[in-house]
Amino acid sequence: KVVVVDYGSQYTQLIARRLRELKVYSEVVHHTEDIDPVDAIGVILSGGPKSVTTEGAPDLPKWFYKIDVPVLGICYGMQLLVKSFGGKVAKTEAAEYGRTEIKILKPSLILDTLPENFIVWMSHGDSVIESPCNFEVLVETENKIPAALCSEDRRIWALQFHPEVKHTEYGTKIIKNFLFNICHAEQNWTMERFLEDKISEIQETVRDNRAILGLSGGVDSSVAAVLVHRAIGDRLTNIFVDHGLLRLSEALEVPEVFRDKLGLNLDVVHAKERFLRKLKGVTDPEEKRKIIGEEFIRVFEKEAKRVGGEFLVQGTIYSDVIESAASGKETAKIKSHHNVGGLPEKMNLKIIEPLRNLFKDEVRKLGELLGIPYEILYRHPFPGPGLGIRIIGEITEEKLQILKEADSIFIQVLKEKGWYERTWQAFAVLLSSKSVGVVGDERAYDYVIALRAVNSVEGMTADWSKIPHEILDEVSRRICNSVKGAGRVVYDITSKPPATIEWE
Ligand code: XMP
Repeated sequence: KVVVVDYGSQYTQLIARRLRELKVYSEVVHHTEDIDPVDAIGVILSGGPKSVTTEGAPDLPKWFYKIDVPVLGICYGMQLLVKSFGGKVAKTEAAEYGRTEIKILKPSLILDTLPENFIVWMSHGDSVIESPCNFEVLVETENKIPAALCSEDRRIWALQFHPEVKHTEYGTKIIKNFLFNICHAEQNWTMERFLEDKISEIQETVRDNRAILGLSGGVDSSVAAVLVHRAIGDRLTNIFVDHGLLRLSEALEVPEVFRDKLGLNLDVVHAKERFLRKLKGVTDPEEKRKIIGEEFIRVFEKEAKRVGGEFLVQGTIYSDVIESAASGKETAKIKSHHNVGGLPEKMNLKIIEPLRNLFKDEVRKLGELLGIPYEILYRHPFPGPGLGIRIIGEITEEKLQILKEADSIFIQVLKEKGWYERTWQAFAVLLSSKSVGVVGDERAYDYVIALRAVNSVEGMTADWSKIPHEILDEVSRRICNSVKGAGRVVYDITSKPPATIEWE
């Protein structure tokens, strides 16, 4: 196995997932965990939010000095190796975030068959200013900062950039080079095996009891529903909560699709008044997430009692876990995803999250293996808190109506123009401020709609979609002409990082 040591990076599980993609078995361990590394064939040190220059910064694991296998340090992992082997790391003027061009200075096994220049994804404030003895600089950035180092005799490679994110060109090739050229890893991990293991795990957990599942109609909860149904059959009851924060027509369409196409038992709970009452006057995004999470659980508890369920199945996937900082001690909290960090502390249901370590595209692959139709698997992701986090500021019925109509127009035009499949996720956001306009010689004062469309693979990093101007123009005109209360349309051109995909 390959051991991935976690220093709290947003991307640690992404490393593990890249290895799964290459059919290589790996285990993620926290850096303080004491393991027996005897069957490790390689070690990868992840990135992390801390600086190696601060006191008490996470160190190399205790067992590190006992191993004699190749090591790859990424970002924080690189800086930690540099510091530990006698080099220097410091805060420099040139912090690099996002897209950065690099240049290969020296050939190495890890850079095998790569071009001399390519684009990588960076996220660092500290930089290596002096390499340790016997380490060579293999790659540098435009700012002349070392982007890759190696000590061939100690079999240590270190990268300042993130090869695990899709926006790094040749990232997978670099990981492949490490795994196969350097560690000589075997390829024996498969999705079929994962499915078999999960089904037995769920059966062992639930035993003769019953479970309920909150089905949102999105990819994750749909896959979780079919997977758990496969494991425990009709002892699973699916609950669809109409919280009033759904997209236009969704409350009618979802139950239809799931009953007819997938033959699942589905009970609809109408809870719009209850959710909107609790959200009245609330403007803080984290508070909104917490309230929505809490209300969901209260609804589920009531439903579980009704059907005699002891377990609650959630379609939580890894990006939800990591951004809620629920996975490790050092991970910085970005936002509380409702089905993780937004859960109330006291809860009478035991949680099952079968997709917790998978990423969106892996979930889709699992869904294909389970025979779920394409239209469901390839819908754009939709967050649990729904339009609640796409209305900036207080949520009101008026704003909800404006947003639903604007969002529906945007998606409709993308579908008409063949751009729905070309974007990973697209939606409208309603801003809290109004803007002045002129309509038929009269002054207008209406809401601003922001359109967001991104390209991504797993939602951890994303680039804004380069939708042609003519299409954006049509969306803008259709929204302003037909949605009462929407007076201006803007397009969000920020990547993730530094922005997140959703606005709240
Ligand atoms: P962010 O905004 O964190 O979004 O860049 C990454 C992906 O996650 C979705 N998202 C959520 N999904 N519960 C969910 O089930 C949530 O609370 C939540 N918040 C964000 C978001 O739509 C995007 O696909």
